[in-house]
Amino acid sequence: MRTRIIGTGSCLPETVVTNDDLAKIMETSDEWISSRTGIRERRLVKDETTASMSVVAAKRAMEDAGVKAEEIDLIIVGTITSDYVIPSTACEVQAAIGADRAVAFDINAACSGFMFALHIADAYLKTGTYRTALILGAETLSKIMDWNDRSTCVLFGDGAGAAVVRADETGLLAYDQGSDGAKGEVLACQNRKNNNPLVKNATELQYTHMDGQEVYKFAVTTVPASIKKVVEEAGLTIEDIDYFALHQANIRIIQSVAKRLKVSEDKFPTSLEHCGNISAASVPILLDEINRKGLLKPGMKIVLSGFGAGLTWGSAVVEW
Ligand code: UT7
Repeated sequence: MRTRIIGTGSCLPETVVTNDDLAKIMETSDEWISSRTGIRERRLVKDETTASMSVVAAKRAMEDAGVKAEEIDLIIVGTITSDYVIPSTACEVQAAIGADRAVAFDINAACSGFMFALHIADAYLKTGTYRTALILGAETLSKIMDWNDRSTCVLFGDGAGAAVVRADETGLLAYDQGSDGAKGEVLACQNRKNNNPLVKNATELQYTHMDGQEVYKFAVTTVPASIKKVVEEAGLTIEDIDYFALHQANIRIIQSVAKRLKVSEDKFPTSLEHCGNISAASVPILLDEINRKGLLKPGMKIVLSGFGAGLTWGSAVVEW
């Protein structure tokens, strides 16, 4: 038994914000952002929320898979920007789509969130506990950015991606995941501080800060190693892989991974030009885009890889 992706969906907010738009409100330029990252524009929420985008992405994935709400046993949302501390985004999605039988919960693995959700779903499906799962990565990162810090806020965007997975004869062929909590501070955003009758802390909003160069070094070494490991575990070679769908943080990271794997960049589809980095949502949005373009054919072998805060990383080889 394997976990097969049988449908994908995604949702981006309506409002496009270009690099030139950002240059009007802060000391930056299209030249700086696009040459260093490949990002040209991103979508930012106005009325949309993490849950509302998740619901649209989920419905699109279910329609693509031909799966009804009552068939879904499990919903997992990878997110660091849920609308509520409680209930979870997954429970909000469950209620909105009417998946009454499903068990629903969120996980926090930052930019690896969708990959970790896929692996958790795989573990449930393999044991026969559940048969059909809806997994998502969804973020409104714009609300945890310091819009006075040009070194971080220009990189990120908002959106949601989803996939329906089902127990089948083929699908997920191999998986690798890891964490390095000792490097947590290189990409961090603090939650509420202790605040009770014993400790008083004024509630001040906390924003994301990042040591971009440390994250860059981590990504260009860990990701190729993780990909080589899963491809080998799947009994394949790098040449057997049709597409590499990586977390969309920076075009230079993707180019470096392609070079280290000695693979043409043509095999690395991207969405970062129009989405920016959407953390857990990056991989499923990209997967949905290439699926809807008709690029994925049955039997193709695809590598998915997420990496980011924690630090965390997760790679998989899937047969389409
Ligand atoms: O999901 C995973 C999360 N993150 C990543 O994968 C990020 C990985 N890291 C990166 O992609 C890169 O490190 C960045 C794109 C974030 C930064 O590129 P960099 O080449 O490492 O630039 P830097 O941080 O060393 O900054 C170079 C200069 C600085 O000016 P000085 O000190 O040299 O005068 C910055 O102040 O660029 C300046 N700068 C900017 N200038 C214009 C920083 N941000 C901006 C900006 N516009 N938005």
